[in-house]
Amino acid sequence: MTDDRVVLVTGAARGLGEGIAIRLLRDGWRVVLADVDGASTTARRLDPGSDHAVGVEVDVTDEQACARAVAAAIDAFGRLDGLVNNAGIGGPSTPAHLTDPADFRRVLEVNLVGPFLMTRAAVPAMQGRPGAAIVNITSVLGQRGEARSGAYSASKGGLGLLGQCLALELAPDGIRVNSVAPGNMLTGMHRDHVQSIADRQGWSYDEALAGVRATVPLGRHGTPDDIGDVVAWLLSPDASYVTGQTVAVNGGILLT
Ligand SMILES: NC(=O)c1ccc[n+]([C@@H]2O[C@H](COP(=O)([O-])OP(=O)(O)OC[C@H]3O[C@@H](n4cnc5c(N)ncnc54)[C@H](O)[C@@H]3O)[C@@H](O)[C@H]2O)c1
Repeated sequence: MTDDRVVLVTGAARGLGEGIAIRLLRDGWRVVLADVDGASTTARRLDPGSDHAVGVEVDVTDEQACARAVAAAIDAFGRLDGLVNNAGIGGPSTPAHLTDPADFRRVLEVNLVGPFLMTRAAVPAMQGRPGAAIVNITSVLGQRGEARSGAYSASKGGLGLLGQCLALELAPDGIRVNSVAPGNMLTGMHRDHVQSIADRQGWSYDEALAGVRATVPLGRHGTPDDIGDVVAWLLSPDASYVTGQTVAVNGGILLT
């Protein structure tokens, strides 16, 4: 049991964020689902009684909107114990030196500045809450660069390091900060990535999907449940001596 603890999950309307919200609701958390689109609908679907989940429409690149999301958590549930910075966008699949600067900036803005703004808004509410914790969703591409992922890799590598800095800065408050680095999870974002491989190589979507799967040592794509399980652990007292770390959830692909 989590003693009615309250967590705010960004990008929770679908994909990995929804999987994280489902798992945390199952564990007894009160969950604020924050998303630029569809948060309230997903909150109602996951919790038809509407007393354990609320949805707030938030663009994480908007400082005021982040503050409003935290205020909504306090309004709904009276406290805030956890933050999961999951909202993110994929990057352009162009070589970095050929990438439109506006596209590059946009990826940094959502994937790196967004978690910074949301953390900035949330920390004052989390200070003094025993066991408070933040989890940032980074990426295997933030751990190892690949051709055609410059903007995305830079944003996620930066987020991992921001997490380490925050872990040190917030340790005196007892707030733990960790990262989860997924790889090849079968969500809308990954389907777009697979389609761009298919288009570039002249393959069908299914051929491209099978090609990606064949590179994963465990031989399958990841699921939102795989991420929800690890996030739940990092937010729980079972991880109370874990801070400043990145847990890779990628079927072993970094070993290849
Ligand atoms: N799918 C993968 O293979 C994979 C791998 C590594 C990392 N990730 C990371 O996991 C996280 C979740 O990705 P996903 O695969 O579920 O993607 P997704 O596209 O399915 O979902 C992302 C969610 O974030 C929301 N979002 C986007 N921009 C936002 C903004 N400015 N403000 C608020 N919400 C916003 C979207 O509306 C959407 O609901 C992302 O940070 C992504 O970079 C995914």
